[in-house]
Amino acid sequence: MAGAGTVVILAAGQGTRMKSARPKVLFPLCGRPMIGWVVDQALALEPERVVVVVGHGAGDVRAALAAMPGAEKITCVVQEPQLGTGHALQVAAPALGDDPGTVLVLYGDMPVLRAETLQGLCAARDALGADGTALMTAVADEARGFGRVLRDERGAFRAVVEERDASDQEKAVPEVNLGVYAFPGRELIECLPRISNDNAQGEYYLTDVPRMFVRAGRRVATVELEDPDEAIGVNTIAHLAEARWALQVRILERHMANGVLIEDPATTYVDHDVEIGVGTHVLPCTVIRAGVRIGAGCEVGPFTHLRAGTVLADGAEVGNFTECKKSTIGAGAKAKHLSYLGDTEVGAGANIGAGTIFANYDGVAKHRSVVGEKAFVGSGTIVVAPNTIGAGATTGAGAVVTRGAHVGPHEVWVGVPARPLRRKPAQPQAGASAKRAAERSERDGGKDAAQE
Ligand code: UD1
Ligand code: MG
Repeated sequence: MAGAGTVVILAAGQGTRMKSARPKVLFPLCGRPMIGWVVDQALALEPERVVVVVGHGAGDVRAALAAMPGAEKITCVVQEPQLGTGHALQVAAPALGDDPGTVLVLYGDMPVLRAETLQGLCAARDALGADGTALMTAVADEARGFGRVLRDERGAFRAVVEERDASDQEKAVPEVNLGVYAFPGRELIECLPRISNDNAQGEYYLTDVPRMFVRAGRRVATVELEDPDEAIGVNTIAHLAEARWALQVRILERHMANGVLIEDPATTYVDHDVEIGVGTHVLPCTVIRAGVRIGAGCEVGPFTHLRAGTVLADGAEVGNFTECKKSTIGAGAKAKHLSYLGDTEVGAGANIGAGTIFANYDGVAKHRSVVGEKAFVGSGTIVVAPNTIGAGATTGAGAVVTRGAHVGPHEVWVGVPARPLRRKPAQPQAGASAKRAAERSERDGGKDAAQE
């Protein structure tokens, strides 16, 4: 497999076109910072090292990198001030070692590229011989401010010209530079000090390096992207939305290929790092955040928000306007209407009636609630955490189970504040007294008032 000895990710720029103090590479994309997607691309190539150039907001970018899987393989170097992409590589050079092999350079604002595409680029470089360079281009409908690729009369690569330095004729060139390069490491390090900043922005452009290689008689080849979505570079908030959609489609397609029935992909938001079991049905207008785990044969939505730390066991159903955060919903349990479950553990087969709220926050701290198996929580119940509702217990419609009240197994609690009514018989009994008990239960129990 063609590979890169070293991957360098440039992530020091501010991203002024985003109009935000937040470093561009930390804008969220499908549940993780943009740079997370680029780090994944890099790690998939199994390089010996990954060097990330940080600068603007370096502390925050470092912290985000440190929290990512594979963080131990990443070395950060600081570029301060940020004088351009060529300068970023100059700053990174000492971290590359004496013989870095192929150096793959990625820009932190190109999150949609696939690892296979990058592998193809490294293979193209290898095919050129030891000192060859391969760079990625695309023929794009929209230039996005990218540099244009200039070719000689025989069609061979000549140079990249930045949009701001380009003549009108050059601006009309439809082939753009994606900012992804597979360089011969030693030649790159040797060339870097010779980059100048004699251009419209007064910056040191990395794009000068391929031009310098051509002039020195080295081979430089281009690899054209097949899927135009991968060319989405994020320079503005509108580009961020485009990139989000491209990645979203990829995520949804993966789940559908695994047998998840996603009824309306256009209104379904599923972050990266979500697991969904086979046969689960996801209905429209549903948001499933990073870290959620959903079993097989579940039903989620419509209009459901599952947040980090939520786990649905097989056959669980969470629907219409229900939000779950750090909650576990047991096998076959249901919370189908208008509910909030925060820091809640719901046992198998339990039913959470419409409009139930688990009030997990007391203004200072968050607390947990536990609902036992087959419990029946009546419509409009408020459970003030910490609390427990025992297995098989029932609460009446509109009950307020006050903090720490602890409804025992099979008990029936009603009212505000909720009080025990009586114990539910564990087993149905034969005879008249059982019939009377059942009638009483019908009269004052919560079950008739609750909804499924
Ligand atoms: C760059 C390319 C352009 C290409 C485009 C593709 C140059 C000179 N131009 O332009 O040819 O079409 O990417 O996306 O390379 N960065 C640093 N330090 C700096 C400046 C930038 O680390 O001093 C980082 C940024 O954080 C960003 C990346 O490099 O991740 C690219 O910078 P950006 O300013 O977005 O360059 P473009 O104008 O997009
Ligand atoms: Mg850019």
